[in-house]
This record gives sequence, structure tokens and C-alpha cells, in this order.
Amino acid sequence: MADYEAWDADRAARIIAERTHLEGAALPILHALQDTFGFIHADVTELLAQALNLSRAEVHGTITFYHDFRPHLPGRHVVKLCRAEACQSVGADALHERIRQILGVEWHGTTGDGAVTVLPVFCLGLCACGPAALVDERPLARLTEQRLQGALAEATA
Ligand code: FES
Repeated sequence: MADYEAWDADRAARIIAERTHLEGAALPILHALQDTFGFIHADVTELLAQALNLSRAEVHGTITFYHDFRPHLPGRHVVKLCRAEACQSVGADALHERIRQILGVEWHGTTGDGAVTVLPVFCLGLCACGPAALVDERPLARLTEQRLQGALAEATA
């Protein structure tokens, strides 16, 4: 689990200013902001639009296009479940539904105790070993409910 800094607009502005010279600066800036604060704060749209001379709509489009950028602080552990075709073909959809039922969360949701956030992702490069997942960035192949519970138990130990 990552330790994140509390949101601070001045700190965010410095992070942005340090990276405006990069080619295709929006993505590295957004990753740096999310790595620092744990999520993309609503004010980032305006800050980034001003810094990169883009419209707010363009920045908003970029943020929402990439599933990796999240608008809320995640739980202490993040489970990413692959929803792409190869994993679907080996039963990922039904498995995901059971997992979300067990945890009591919707996609992008966090369990009531703040422990686990569940996110959809689209291909983790483990297509031959699906269903695939990441638990706090650790890959899990041939996912089952039991394997996920084991990985979460390890992550919280
Ligand atoms: S389709 Fe799931 S890892 Fe590629």
C-alpha cells in the first residue's frame, strides 16, 4: 500500500511546473500527481489546462479516457481485475461479479472499511493465464475467489 500526501494545490502546481517541458506532458504530469496524492483531484483539470494551454474539456477528456486515473483516494489495497477479451473467454465476468458481491463493491468502489478498491483494467499482458488480476501491482494469474482472498490476506499481513 502506498503512502500518499494530502492534497495541496501549491504542491500540485509545482509538480505540474516541473514537467511542462516534457513531450506529451499531460500524461506524465497526471501520473506524477496520482503517485503523489493517490488520486486526481477535481482542481487538476483547471491547473493543467492553464499550464499546458489546453481547454478544460481537453484535459477532462484525457483524465477520463484512461482508466488508471481515479477521482477518489483508493482503499489501502487496490485490486485490478482484467476485463479484456482473453480473460472474459475463461469466465472472468462471472468471477468478477462474485468477487464484487463478496466485497460488496461496484467497479471503482471501495469496501466500507476502506481496505480494498476494485478497478477494471483492460489486459495485463497475462492473457494466456487468465483470468488475470493485480493486487497492489502484484500479478495474479488463473484468478479464483480463493486466490484473491489469499493474496489480500498476504497483502494485509
Ligand atoms: S485479456 Fe486479461 S490479461 Fe490480457
